[in-house]
Amino acid sequence: MSPTFPDDGAAVRLLGASLERGGREVLRDLDLDVPRGRITAVMGPSGTGKTSLLGLLSGELAPSRGRVLVEGQDLAALDRGGLFALRRRMGMLFQEGALFTDMSVFDNVAFPLREHTRLPEELVRVIVLLKLEAVGLRGAADLYPSELSGGMARRAALARAVVMDPALVLYDEPLTGLDPISMGVILRLIRDLNRTLGLTSVVVSHDVQEMLTVADCFYLLADGRLIAQGDRASIRAQAASSPWVRQFLEGEADGPVPFHYPARPLWDDLFAGEAA
Ligand SMILES: Nc1ncnc2c1ncn2[C@@H]1O[C@H](COP(=O)(O)OP(=O)(O)O)[C@@H](O)[C@H]1O
Ligand SMILES: [Mg+2]
Repeated sequence: MSPTFPDDGAAVRLLGASLERGGREVLRDLDLDVPRGRITAVMGPSGTGKTSLLGLLSGELAPSRGRVLVEGQDLAALDRGGLFALRRRMGMLFQEGALFTDMSVFDNVAFPLREHTRLPEELVRVIVLLKLEAVGLRGAADLYPSELSGGMARRAALARAVVMDPALVLYDEPLTGLDPISMGVILRLIRDLNRTLGLTSVVVSHDVQEMLTVADCFYLLADGRLIAQGDRASIRAQAASSPWVRQFLEGEADGPVPFHYPARPLWDDLFAGEAA
């Protein structure tokens, strides 16, 4: 279960990857590297394809064009067993971080171990308690999700995402719905877990300012395309010269990034029934 990404190159790489969903191209010609051991942020407004991008990285969705390489392996070349083995080494924190409501915090975190390994229960107990300790919830092991605050529930989901000691962790909007203090706690945990567990992390978020405090590498996604990439200094510098990047970092509603979901002209919708 130890991280075994090769030492050189990116942990995950997209090469000219496009993705179609519902007959529409939602991601277009993406080249993206996820550097090993770092935190990579993919930022962009809702509906720009961030969750879809995580689906590509995890092998859950297949690109319509281009390639996805994980540990240097082309996902398209893997059979079901190979893909399954690879995905077991990935941890995922889904949007809203849903816990099983009918299980205690302990059993939620133990779930992946019981499902995917044959470890004896004494060892499961040790691993789960260590992961709960890491997120500050060892004392809450016997509580049920309904007894947790939003921030605690997110931390429990985080413990579950890393309980298999994954090499790569994918976070989908880990801050959504949290108060500012809980956000700070989750951000610190993402950073600390990345360092102490030697993870590679990809965090997808529309919380630009928060991502700028925690991530090492940044990709800005708008309407299914990458519009900027770089480290923190480079992204900030690009804001000075690009109105797109500036609109992003400053969270302005008006700017070159389109506000409207693609649609036919308003006129056509308003008078749809009348044309003959
Ligand atoms: N299961 C699906 N089937 C068809 N289209 C989808 C599906 N899921 C998402 N989409 C479309 O893909 C685009 C990107 O969605 P998504 O990746 O969820 O964006 P984000 O996570 O940035 O909000 C949207 O236009 C959305 O409507
Ligand atoms: Mg999403």
